[in-house]
Amino acid sequence: MTVKMVIGTQWGDEGKGKVVDYFSKDAEYVVRFQGGNNAGHTIKVGDEIYKLHIIPSGVIQGRTGVIGNGCVVDPEVLIYEIEQLKKRGINPKLLLSDRANIIMPYHKALDGAEEKLLADKKIGTTKRGIGPCYSDKIARRGIRSCDLISKESLRKKLELIAPIQKQFYKVFKISEGIDLEELVDKYSNYGSQLKQYIAPTHKILNDAISKQKNVLLEGAQGTMLDVEFGTYPYTTSSNTVAGGASSGAGIGPRNIDEIIGIVKAYTTRVGEGPMPTELFDDVGKHLAIKGHEYGTTTNRPRRCGWLDLVVVKHSCMISGITKIAITKLDVLNGLPKLKICTSYIFYGKNISEFPADIEMVKECKPDYKEFSGWEEFDAGVSSFKNLPKEAQLYLKFIEKQLKIPISIVSIGPGRSETIEV
Ligand code: IMP
Repeated sequence: MTVKMVIGTQWGDEGKGKVVDYFSKDAEYVVRFQGGNNAGHTIKVGDEIYKLHIIPSGVIQGRTGVIGNGCVVDPEVLIYEIEQLKKRGINPKLLLSDRANIIMPYHKALDGAEEKLLADKKIGTTKRGIGPCYSDKIARRGIRSCDLISKESLRKKLELIAPIQKQFYKVFKISEGIDLEELVDKYSNYGSQLKQYIAPTHKILNDAISKQKNVLLEGAQGTMLDVEFGTYPYTTSSNTVAGGASSGAGIGPRNIDEIIGIVKAYTTRVGEGPMPTELFDDVGKHLAIKGHEYGTTTNRPRRCGWLDLVVVKHSCMISGITKIAITKLDVLNGLPKLKICTSYIFYGKNISEFPADIEMVKECKPDYKEFSGWEEFDAGVSSFKNLPKEAQLYLKFIEKQLKIPISIVSIGPGRSETIEV
């Protein structure tokens, strides 16, 4: 029995979907513990491509997908994703925590309005209502999935909450109103549709662990979007680090056996905020085009740059990562020279710790180590020693710097394009 976790070590979009899919074959439960439909996971099975935003990707493998209490859930999106999967012949085995907070229409309205007010200082959110929903959760005025089951109790909760939201609407000059009865009808209807999935998932998971079942915890976003350890305030509103899984799924830290950190072979970021290794030249374009670097959720182009090991080391330390999975190595094919950032230069001073102050990060210039590139390699390469020598050196350098073993190298989107090291 193992409880494994897969988390991103950069700014999200590291290719976690594929690695989660890879490990799902051995897991009984695949669990999301934070975030909402701001995430986007792409899974390629043969010629079929699945894009999931809130449903854990393990359901594609027929595993039970669990949406943990630490997630925020837009019921409309969840119901849509269930329907879409059913249309493609997958009846997802799904559980939704009775404690997960629900994204309401006012959260989406406020997300957009706040971004508009911030103008050129905006976070660049996905506008899915994530931040306002987590704010309400912490302020103890959230609606949770258990509240959707009884129309009467939902009405009582909304009678308390709606007047407060109306005040926020005034502050943000949102002209549309909040119709209490409409909300009660719509969300209790969602409740009826989702009732079959709503359950005390923390208890189910702990029972499974005590019965020696395999559990896979699937992180969304990446460490640099963590609200505590990321590039605050240009982060998401949840804990994307390994610690977030304990509170977000209700699993004690001592029960987690392995923490796999996903490292994309280069760096990408969507939205605003500093990214020291960002490239604005032809190499940046190469990475964007070859890596299909467009957001799964918003279709926004991702910013691309060289691999930043200051970022990855920071992530490995915070989450106690035990193994590394390198993704999208093939995207580097054909580049004559490669660079890896090993530290930053801040006004002449060399620093190797990721700074807390975002203004300081903006002034950090990457200190690079250069590597020779390699030509194309065969998509069928199945062992590390058959990779080009230059690629092996590139990977060995990463491993040595991180002092954590690389256990997987992904060389393409398909399930078979995976090298176990
Ligand atoms: P929010 O999560 O919608 O509030 O957005 C906050 C920041 O996190 C923005 O910069 C988003 O682009 C970024 N973000 C949120 N989810 C993802 C993701 O799944 N991948 C990459 N970036 C994300």
